[in-house]
Amino acid sequence: MISRRAVLLGGAAAGAAGFAPSALGGMPVSRDTLPKTAPVRHLTLSATEIEVPLLGPDKPKTQHFCAYNGTPFLTWRAPLGTRLMVDFENRLPDYTTVHWHGIRVPNVSDGVAPLTQAPIPPGGRFAYNVPLPDPGFYFFHPHCDETGQVGRGLVALLLVDDPAEARLGFDLEHIIAVKDWRLDENGRWLTMFTDEGASTAGSFGTVRATNGSVTPPRVEAPAHGDVRLRVIVADSTRTVDFGCETSDAAIIAVDGQAVTPLPMSKLPDEVWRMGPAMRLDVHVRMPGPGEEVKVYDYRTAEPYLLTTLVGVDKGRKKTPFKPKALPDAKVPLPDVARAKKLDFLVQTAAGATAIAPPLPPDDPLAKALIDSFCVGDKTFWAINRTSWGAGADLRLPPPLEILKDGQSYRLSITNVTKHVHPMHLHGHVFRVLSSTKKTGIPPYLADTVMTEPNETVEIAFRANSGDWVFHCHILEHMDSGLMGWFRVA
Ligand code: C2O
Ligand code: CU
Repeated sequence: MISRRAVLLGGAAAGAAGFAPSALGGMPVSRDTLPKTAPVRHLTLSATEIEVPLLGPDKPKTQHFCAYNGTPFLTWRAPLGTRLMVDFENRLPDYTTVHWHGIRVPNVSDGVAPLTQAPIPPGGRFAYNVPLPDPGFYFFHPHCDETGQVGRGLVALLLVDDPAEARLGFDLEHIIAVKDWRLDENGRWLTMFTDEGASTAGSFGTVRATNGSVTPPRVEAPAHGDVRLRVIVADSTRTVDFGCETSDAAIIAVDGQAVTPLPMSKLPDEVWRMGPAMRLDVHVRMPGPGEEVKVYDYRTAEPYLLTTLVGVDKGRKKTPFKPKALPDAKVPLPDVARAKKLDFLVQTAAGATAIAPPLPPDDPLAKALIDSFCVGDKTFWAINRTSWGAGADLRLPPPLEILKDGQSYRLSITNVTKHVHPMHLHGHVFRVLSSTKKTGIPPYLADTVMTEPNETVEIAFRANSGDWVFHCHILEHMDSGLMGWFRVA
């Protein structure tokens, strides 16, 4: 094993070599989360640029919208226990990769350039092996120029269905994808990464939208019936205080993982705060015929209407509301009592804190990375005084920590900045144990957890072998230093 100091000195002594994960030995092989005999689905996926009327009908269309398979918010569904073999082709004029957010994939399919794969050049292909061991609501997006590409629309949704959920008998399932657009009045893209945004709360969209539409959708559902809302904040920046104008609503899953139903009326301010990448499944009981349930983002001064559910008479009788519980989550649970404790501070960068000097420019990886813009050249944020994303950056810092495969860890994450940071860990689903600000919420599973200014959040997980990044999902923060990685071996 190699210490951070040794890496520092070694890097300096070598003069030009950046930190390479190979300095720690070969990349750890992560275990397959499905048996070899699992049913396989072969899928083709491409990333392309298309033209989309984002500002609405009769307005100028937006060029260079980035979409998977030519479809904004492409949505895939597959049964639990299936393995997706995805043949991906990059038809964008830029480098990209695909990251399967929240899914316990093998490390080589995690899509993180340059940690788990080289960025895919225009015209290039990559085969992803995506086992689906857990039911739930996931999504996928690039992990290379994420701010630019996600900003221009490159996200897709992935729902993993557990056949055991059919017996719950929802009358309707409806997806709410929150994503704004940064456009000028002629429908042209504005710069996605701004220094002002990246160093504060992020650069917000100029146009709000739900499921791509600037007009909040109206959705019909059986009066007195049961609706399952599946909500995702797919935006690069925006944090939403999700709430419904009814007391008959309960959270039944967080980040796709089942929770003991949590009535929304019991939550502080009756809202659940969702940062970028967070998902929520909510069971809503519809009111009578012609009556509506309005769903809002209450975070803005004027609540923003996300969607209206409208009750239509289907002969259903009114019955008392009882939230439906999903089958228990299947992810490996941490042994919290024996977990090793680690502390992390989410901070502003004190200056140029990148640790390793850049790779020599003639190194092939350096060349690919320079061309790819997978990495930013500004540093505003750090985790435990280490920034990743700084100084044009081919500098991969050493891991935040080297963890042991199968061992449980308890991470305390303290946000000492003035802004919120939704922190995401790859390759794992963790248990959110506690928060110094949000009390009274029983522990739940998630892959992304919100940290508020001056809040300490504790999470625990059982480490799974691989090189996994840990970062803020406000994409400009991530691109300006708020990212680190763990080696689990
Ligand atoms: Cu959706 Cu590394 O993130
Ligand atoms: Cu952040």
